[in-house]
Amino acid sequence: MYKRSFYLTACIVAGVLILSQCIGKKADPRGDAFSGDASCSSCHPSAFAAHQHSAHAFASAPADAHTILGKFIAPHDSFLFPGNVVVKMEQNNNRYYQSAYLNGQLREQATFDITIGQGRKAQTYLSWHDNKYFQLPLSWFRPVMNWANSPGFPATYPYYKREIASSCFGCHSSYVKFETSFEGVRKMESFPENKVVFGITCERCHGPAQEHVAFHMQYPDEKTAHAITRIGQLSRQQQVDMCAVCHAGLKTPQRDLFEFRPGDRLSDYIMADYFATPAEQSANDVHGRQYQLLTASKCFRMSNQLTCTTCHDPHEDKRNDLTAYTKKCMSCHQPGSTNFCTQKADMQVLQEKCINCHMPEQPSGVITLLASGQQQPVADSLRSHLIKVYR
Ligand code: HEC
Ligand code: HEC
Ligand code: HEC
Ligand code: HEC
Ligand code: HEC
Ligand code: HEC
Ligand code: HEC
Repeated sequence: MYKRSFYLTACIVAGVLILSQCIGKKADPRGDAFSGDASCSSCHPSAFAAHQHSAHAFASAPADAHTILGKFIAPHDSFLFPGNVVVKMEQNNNRYYQSAYLNGQLREQATFDITIGQGRKAQTYLSWHDNKYFQLPLSWFRPVMNWANSPGFPATYPYYKREIASSCFGCHSSYVKFETSFEGVRKMESFPENKVVFGITCERCHGPAQEHVAFHMQYPDEKTAHAITRIGQLSRQQQVDMCAVCHAGLKTPQRDLFEFRPGDRLSDYIMADYFATPAEQSANDVHGRQYQLLTASKCFRMSNQLTCTTCHDPHEDKRNDLTAYTKKCMSCHQPGSTNFCTQKADMQVLQEKCINCHMPEQPSGVITLLASGQQQPVADSLRSHLIKVYR
């Protein structure tokens, strides 16, 4: 009798546990083949920890007190347009708004729903309503540490009607739910739900990994990777294509970028003539064309191993540590060899500063900012990925 009720209780407890686990693991909106970043942490703790703080992880995020960088405190909480129009940053019950007032009367208002950009240079905001995403009129810019007109927006009045296409999410997130329809021959997109997988997640780069996770959970002693693409064994072109999906500048993809998997060919997604190499950095903008510039460099063309990951850890941002990057240069350009720097200078200076001279920061001709109340526009600058001798 005692025993039976014990077993019964044990069965119920087990049943509840199993059930709660099923409910606990939320279905991934991308489908069952995806497992989600959290499932990678137990077996790949260092990649997971590094990635959590990276620009990739924050390429998009739900807008809240932690993710919105722009200020909501006077005097940095408003932007003055001509004709007594002011846009104020307002918050109410954990909702955040950009509200436009004319002579003190509320005229237009939209919520902050999504942040785009980690804020290395700028952060911009999307609002979701009427089954569409709209970019807010004001963005936050690091060079001026303030609000200013979103890039390309009119300077004379706050514009609330800039619709955002799914391609924006194609580079700044890992999934957005959208539907397409036709109005005549014009393709229209709608977003019936505000459903996004934020940031550039593990599986955005590595491809769906549910099978990989399930296999290694079942066979914890197996040390050879199963059901996951081994990037190190792809060709160099395939390796740079993986990054170029998002690092070759703005263009109109021919196929859904969310379907791109490591090993795929970029030219199957984006027309090849977009990749014509620019002669100069001036063709660059905030959506930098690192791919075009790097592949135009002699280092790339005359070696067959240089890729993006020769210099960048794909999981961790190493900002401003130019000495570490210089070491990468010297893995191919060794002091004393015939292909070392021919500039006459102190060896110490050379060894610390390859990057300063051969990958200089150059002002962008495309992005200039004028913050509220300022007279002089500020030009943004970018690191050139065209490695060469700059005179
Ligand atoms: C239960 C353990 C386990 C989990 C969970 C797991 N992996 Fe792995 N993974 C392994 C093992 C074991 C290897 C092979 C040894 C190694 O390279 O670390 C591996 C290797 C890899 C590799 C390298 C493949 C190669 O050889 O180049 C990638 C990429 C990878 N995993 C991605 C992921 C991602 C993404 C997730 C989460 C969605 C994940 N793993 C979750 C166990 C796991
Ligand atoms: C799905 C799109 C996507 C892919 C694929 C991608 N990136 Fe990025 N990457 C971004 C976006 C978007 C940002 C800017 C994020 C931000 O600042 O908010 C970024 C930022 C970066 C940065 C700047 C980090 C910093 O310190 O600010 C580096 C370096 C970088 N990516 C390298 C790579 C490399 C190398 C690869 C290939 C292994 C790659 N990316 C693949 C979208 C992508
Ligand atoms: C082709 C891929 C691509 C598309 C499409 C794209 N971006 Fe980006 N975006 C990037 C990359 C890569 C960066 C990192 C900057 C760089 O390349 O130097 C970036 C940077 C940014 C930044 C600055 C982030 C920071 O940390 O300073 C903002 C803001 C931004 N993008 C907004 C947008 C918005 C809004 C859209 C859609 C209207 C969009 N982007 C479309 C790839 C893309
Ligand atoms: C921007 C694209 C990108 C993202 C995001 C990304 N990876 Fe990677 N990962 C790569 C590339 C590229 C390599 C191959 C590096 C090489 O061989 O130079 C790699 C290698 C690996 C490896 C094998 C080598 C190593 O460093 O241990 C593992 C394991 C791995 N990634 C796991 C993860 C996990 C887990 C996440 C999420 C927390 C993640 N990756 C996110 C691009 C990415
Ligand atoms: C994978 C190997 C490799 C790496 C890493 C590499 N280079 Fe090169 N680089 C080459 C090769 C090969 C050439 C062309 C042949 C030569 O000049 O010896 C070259 C050429 C150059 C040139 C001459 C370019 C021209 O247009 O005349 C400069 C300058 C240069 N590299 C600087 C650098 C700097 C700075 C770095 C680090 C940011 C770097 N390289 C990283 C392989 C590499
Ligand atoms: C020879 C080394 C080298 C290679 C190869 C390289 N990068 Fe970079 N990259 C750098 C350096 C150095 C910086 C500046 C880092 C800093 O200022 O902290 C940088 C910065 C960046 C940034 C930040 C935005 C900017 O322009 O300041 C992005 C994004 C980026 N790289 C993407 C890529 C991609 C994508 C590839 C491959 C197509 C690539 N890089 C190949 C050295 C390299
Ligand atoms: C102070 C600026 C400066 C620094 C630092 C510097 N270089 Fe140079 N480098 C130059 C100039 C200028 C030339 C052209 C010299 C000439 O031909 O008169 C040059 C030439 C070269 C060349 C030969 C280019 C050719 O025409 O074939 C290579 C390769 C090179 N540098 C690599 C490097 C590497 C690698 C480092 C870091 C270890 C480095 N440089 C550091 C300024 C610099």
